[in-house]
Amino acid sequence: MIPAVAISLTEPAFKADPFPTYVRMRAETPICRIATSRNGSAIFVTRYADVSALLRDKRFVKDPANALTSEQLAQQRRIPGLLSPLTRNILALDDPDHARLRRLVQAVFTPRRIDALEAQVVAASAALLEPLHKQSSFDLIADYALPLPVKVISDLLGVPTADQTRFARWSHALIKVGSVSPINAILQMPAVLSFLRYLKRLIAMKRKDPADDLISALVAQQQDDVLSEHELMAMISILLSAGHETTTNLIGNGMLTLMRHPAARESLLTAPALIEPAIEEFLRFEGPVEMSTPRYASDDVALGDVTIPQGSTVFGIIASANRDDRNFVNADRVLIERDPNRHLTFGEGGHYCLGASLARMEGRVAFAHLLDRFPNMHMRHPASSHRWRPNMVLRGIERFPVICA
Ligand code: HEM
Repeated sequence: MIPAVAISLTEPAFKADPFPTYVRMRAETPICRIATSRNGSAIFVTRYADVSALLRDKRFVKDPANALTSEQLAQQRRIPGLLSPLTRNILALDDPDHARLRRLVQAVFTPRRIDALEAQVVAASAALLEPLHKQSSFDLIADYALPLPVKVISDLLGVPTADQTRFARWSHALIKVGSVSPINAILQMPAVLSFLRYLKRLIAMKRKDPADDLISALVAQQQDDVLSEHELMAMISILLSAGHETTTNLIGNGMLTLMRHPAARESLLTAPALIEPAIEEFLRFEGPVEMSTPRYASDDVALGDVTIPQGSTVFGIIASANRDDRNFVNADRVLIERDPNRHLTFGEGGHYCLGASLARMEGRVAFAHLLDRFPNMHMRHPASSHRWRPNMVLRGIERFPVICA
């Protein structure tokens, strides 16, 4: 019997500090049921060993059609027809389709290809920071942490510069559709429609006039019949949203962690070479992702001390696994030299994050630039007044006003 726990996973007060609740859950109800506004009653897993096992076990599938009976499928909440071009995305499919789609893009994200992009990211970061230098305060999210990854992923995809701001707004609407209640999701539909219309135009433009970018490369694959039109649209859309909201949160949450832990910040200012382990620690301690995306049990599966019934929807709470003191010494302390640091922030198994090397490189550039240019940056308002996004899967603050002098 899997115990039920009553918490609202998107409530601002919970999002502000979920960690004491996770300590209790790991001790008392490590695998439990929680009612959610979108997924009905789902199962949530909090211990490191169980989250890792969940993400690696192929009996937990991503496509409900591979796990649920036709009666169970009929009871699932329907995805609005408008969104159907985006449903066949890499994070919602199982092999062999998942493997086919992943192969099409993974070459672009290898560490070697990402290293070659670094000079462009440095230039984009410098251009964003230039005007901020003259200001005594700014919003670290709106003025830097959001536009930097948007520019990087949009350039990689081949979205014209003039369209990139709109592109980011649409991506935000898409993320909301997947995370808010069905009523609120309807409010995002006009933005989603504009996004789909724009995507079709962009794909047609790249087909007619290909360039040296990822969308053109994917369009070429389409001509070889390896990728359907809907799969192409879904791929662009997932790369856009997975590629920037998470990295925005890495920069925002990481700077917040440094401001709340002055000793760690002092160590990093005196030893900038620690940037790489420091980023791993930001990813672990206050990571950009609260939990995995959902999986569905294709069979009765033993996990930890329980059996997850076939047909269940299951989430792994990565933020909790990363603070599990069975796996991390001083799990609630920020140790920027932590080694080893096997956090689960990029997931595990077949759906391991494709953009991990890109995110790490963007993080390196962003933290190095911010600490170098604004060594005395501090919060304009106390940390307790920050509003965390009411999103179940992602973890980040909405605004981050800072004073730089
Ligand atoms: C710090 C930044 C990032 C974090 C924390 C992060 C985290 C994750 C996690 C946890 C997953 C697996 C989800 C699951 O199994 O349920 C994932 C998958 C994915 N990520 Fe990231 N991500 C980041 C940045 C990026 C970037 C920059 C890109 C691309 C440009 C990207 C593209 C993807 C894609 C395409 C997948 C799906 C892979 C698959 O299904 O095979 N991510 N990411």
